[in-house]
Amino acid sequence: MSHEHGEQKHSSCSHHHGNGDASHESCGSCSHEQPLKQVKHIIAVASGKGGVGKSTFAVNLAISLAQSGAKVGLIDADLYGPSIPTMFGLLDEKPTVTGKNLVPLEKYGVKLMSIGFLIEPETAVIWRGPLVSSAIKQFINEVEWPELDYLIFDLPPGTGDIQLTIAQTVPLSGAVIVTTPQDVALADVAKAVAMFRKVDVPILGLVENMSYYELPDGSKDYIFGNHGGEKFAKVQGLTLLGTIPIDRAVREGGDNGQPCMLSNPDSATSKSIKAAAEEVARQVARLA
Ligand SMILES: Nc1ncnc2c1ncn2[C@@H]1O[C@H](COP(=O)(O)OP(=O)(O)O)[C@@H](O)[C@H]1O
Ligand SMILES: [Mg+2]
Repeated sequence: MSHEHGEQKHSSCSHHHGNGDASHESCGSCSHEQPLKQVKHIIAVASGKGGVGKSTFAVNLAISLAQSGAKVGLIDADLYGPSIPTMFGLLDEKPTVTGKNLVPLEKYGVKLMSIGFLIEPETAVIWRGPLVSSAIKQFINEVEWPELDYLIFDLPPGTGDIQLTIAQTVPLSGAVIVTTPQDVALADVAKAVAMFRKVDVPILGLVENMSYYELPDGSKDYIFGNHGGEKFAKVQGLTLLGTIPIDRAVREGGDNGQPCMLSNPDSATSKSIKAAAEEVARQVARLA
């Protein structure tokens, strides 16, 4: 299925574009161009729910793709709860400015932008919708993104202004949905799936995170329920991109700025994340 970057992506444009006018290059009356033309694939990592591992997966996905030789960027779109500065160990870093644009930071081979690099974390929590949307648009249009193979958006939980702004501003290749196996997470994930379908963003598939905890004797404890994500994927007709166990190294890697892909590359968990990242790349290529 090919994704149509039709006029619904440019609702702010008052000029009429025919269906399939993908680039708007021919339109002399518009002040805008298609944003992020220099990026081959734009991926949203999303979920209805918070705390399921979106940021953790987005970070490790970005690093994994970069390790495979791709040029990768990551936008922390969770303005109310940015995680990227912590997870990359960049809490005190500030981006530089050229002209009127911000230069993304870079670590572990990934170009990065986060509200956490720009303002005190307490400031954004009082922002209303319009300010939030314009901050996201700034991340898209006023950051010196170089040519990239993948640009990943780490989304906040829910189906609000931030998700819709991104879906309507950039031509998303697709969304990766992250969930835990438990019913309370899946109920919200169903809403996120419905939202992306409504705005014609393809869903690349589902990652089941915190699938189980491996006990010392090698048996598996399905702490959040047994195969809930897998079953949900089946019911919704979604590709299961991978399952990732609960692992102390994942949590520690997130907190100390050394993602587990790097600190424990050979662990079963890192391998499961790597496999899920490869599946994301396959699905993106399939839809391209
Ligand atoms: N597979 C996992 N094993 C152990 N801890 C995890 C795992 N995935 C995520 N976590 C931890 O759970 C917390 C929430 O993850 P996070 O990625 O911030 O979720 P979200 O972005 O969906 O809110 C973090 O402390 C993170 O380190
Ligand atoms: Mg997050």
